[in-house]
Amino acid sequence: MSQYKATALARANIALSKYWGKSDVALNLPAVPSISITLEPMRTETTVEFDAGLTQDEVELNGKPAEGKARTRAIKVLDQVRAIARLDLKARVVSSNNFPTASGLASSASGFAALVGASWSATGMERDNERWSAMSRQASASAARSIYGGFVELPRGIPGDASNAAKQIAKPDHWDVRVVVAVANEGAKDVGSTEGMTLSEQTSPYYRSWVDCSDALAAEVREGILTRNLTKVGEAMEQSTLAMHACMMASRPGLIYFQPATLAALATVKRLRKEGIEVYATMDAGPHVKALCNSADAGRVATALADTQMVLRTLTAQPGPDLEIRK
Ligand code: DP6
Repeated sequence: MSQYKATALARANIALSKYWGKSDVALNLPAVPSISITLEPMRTETTVEFDAGLTQDEVELNGKPAEGKARTRAIKVLDQVRAIARLDLKARVVSSNNFPTASGLASSASGFAALVGASWSATGMERDNERWSAMSRQASASAARSIYGGFVELPRGIPGDASNAAKQIAKPDHWDVRVVVAVANEGAKDVGSTEGMTLSEQTSPYYRSWVDCSDALAAEVREGILTRNLTKVGEAMEQSTLAMHACMMASRPGLIYFQPATLAALATVKRLRKEGIEVYATMDAGPHVKALCNSADAGRVATALADTQMVLRTLTAQPGPDLEIRK
C-alpha cells in the first residue's frame, strides 16, 4: 500500500436555516449563518493517492474523468493541501456518491468535504476538523458543514477572516428526526448556487431583508434543535426557505427553482400537518422538497410524498456521523 493514500467518507447535509449570499467572494464567506443536519446514508467516498509516477492530477467523479469547473475546483483543493504539507506530488482522486447525483441532494457538500479529508490525510498530516471545515468552506460553503455529523452551524463570515468554519451543535443521536426527500425531476439545475447567489445580491430588492432576517431565524432553529422542538425548528426552517426563495425569485432575471412537483409536494406537507402529523418542508436551489419529521412519522410522510402527483420517488435520511477516514 502506498504511503500517501487515504479514503474519506463524508455525508451530504441539508440546511434547516439557509445559506444564500457571500460576505467575501474571494474567500467564499457566507453572508448569513446556516444550520444543517448531516444525512445518513447519503455518502461520498473519495480516495486520494499522491504518486511520484504521475505527471498531472487525475480526478475521477462517479466513474468519469472530471472536466471543466469540477476539475479546476478539485485541483485547487489539492494545491492548498500540497502547499500546507510541502508535498510536491501529483494525485489520483477517485470519488463516487452512493446517492444519485440528480436526487436533489447537493453532492458538492459531501464531495468537497471528502476531498479535503482524504487529501489531507493522504499526506500523513493529523486530522484537524476546524481547518478541514474552513478549507471545505472555501471550496463550497455548504461543504464546511459536512465535516461534522449531527446538527451543524456555519456562522456568518466576517470579510477577510479565512478561518470561518462550521461547528457541531448537537451529536447525531441528540434527536431522532428524519428527512424525507421528494425527488421532483432528474437532470442538472439551470443556475448553480454560486452564480445564483451573486445574481441575487446584485439584483434582488429583497437581498438585504433576507440577510437581515437570517440571524433571528438561525437562532430559532438552533434553539429548537437544542430543545428538540420540532414545531420551532420546522416553522423557522420553512420561513428561512421561503424568505430565501423570495429573494431568489425577485432577482433579475428571476431565479425560479420551483416546479409543479414542488408545489404539489408542499401541498402534501401542509395536508399531513392538518391531519396531525408534524412535518415541515425545505427546498434548496432546485425543485426537490425535503420534509423534516419525527422518525415515527417518516414512513407515512414518505408514502404520502411518493403518492404525490409528479413526485418521482423519495429517499429517507437520518442524522449521520462525522466525516470518516480510512487509511
Ligand atoms: C441553497 O454551498 O453550493 O443549498 O459556496 O457558492 O459553493 P457555494 O454554494 P453552495 O450553496 C448552497 C445553497 C443552498 C442552501 C444551503 O445549503 O445552506
